[in-house]
Amino acid sequence: MRAVQFDAYGGIDVLRVGDAPDPEPGPGEALVRVRAAGTNPDDVPIREGMLAELFPRPFPAGQGSDLAGVIEAVGPGVTRMSIGAHVLGFTHRHDAQAELVAVPVHHLVRKPASVSWEVAGALPLVGVTAWAAVHAVQLRPRETVVVSAAAGGVGSLVVQLARRAGARVIGIAGRHHHSWLREHGVTPVEHHGDIAEAVRRAAAGPVHALIDCYGHGYVRMGVEELDVDPGRIDTVVDMVAAHRFGTKNRGQASGAHAHVLDELVQLLSAGELEVPIAAALPVEDVQTAYRVLEEHHTHGKIVLMF
Ligand SMILES: NC(=O)c1ccc[n+]([C@@H]2O[C@H](COP(=O)([O-])OP(=O)(O)OC[C@H]3O[C@@H](n4cnc5c(N)ncnc54)[C@H](OP(=O)(O)O)[C@@H]3O)[C@@H](O)[C@H]2O)c1
Repeated sequence: MRAVQFDAYGGIDVLRVGDAPDPEPGPGEALVRVRAAGTNPDDVPIREGMLAELFPRPFPAGQGSDLAGVIEAVGPGVTRMSIGAHVLGFTHRHDAQAELVAVPVHHLVRKPASVSWEVAGALPLVGVTAWAAVHAVQLRPRETVVVSAAAGGVGSLVVQLARRAGARVIGIAGRHHHSWLREHGVTPVEHHGDIAEAVRRAAAGPVHALIDCYGHGYVRMGVEELDVDPGRIDTVVDMVAAHRFGTKNRGQASGAHAHVLDELVQLLSAGELEVPIAAALPVEDVQTAYRVLEEHHTHGKIVLMF
């Protein structure tokens, strides 16, 4: 089968599409023929070897956490899913960007026909992360929440889920994303100049919560400049700041459950949630995908198609 692989830790140029042995589904697993696989910033430090002690990779190594496809076979003991089912989900083995992936069935949910393959392949990691972050700050109707990187893969879902919780949402993003944010009921603020002052002007009252999807000082800004209770700040990026200021840092580890993914899929299917797709590229363009991703100005998701 074809799979995204790399033979040594390094930059984007180590990525290639190569031949790999077909995986076999083990007990409790399904073998999925992948149609779409998401790309995520978290893939980058793993490929670069920054997390080699935590996630040592045998080479050639695979890549990716998100996938959507069709079940081709099931391993012993699987009753919940059957061959031919259209599914989406996540794997913790960093091998989702491949034609065939063996995945525990409790990491998969059914894909309704109304959800496209590229959206299904894009949703899992950012969806469960956004869900966890919004739940962590316990929004109440009419409260004001600030979201950094509000138009990125995680942020674009955070702002929509926060609006669904009834909050007023101020989204920090580059100017080119402001019309999308306004269309989704979000008040946009640019990320240069005196950001805290711009947020205060947009809020015109107290800021009750902050969800940080970017790092680089947004947690400190929330505590010290916007006077947000640290217990109502969640960062999915900046663990050092979370520790220093006593904020939450809930992300995928708290949200990665099939029932969460299924809840998000039902919202997508009902047209009540949108996953913006920046690009859906053939898997052969994997280096282009990560070149764009690593510029860190994407609106929504870049997906690899098989
Ligand atoms: N903890 C977890 O479980 C978890 C899970 C998933 C992701 N993450 C992390 O969450 C972060 C976001 O992931 P993602 O998938 O949303 O990334 P992404 O899609 O690449 O989005 C990055 C966003 O950052 C924005 N940005 C750039 N400079 C900014 C600035 N100075 N201030 C505010 N926003 C700025 C960009 O928007 P503009 O074009 O507007 O600049 C872009 O939309 C990454 O660091 C990722 O590793 C953590």
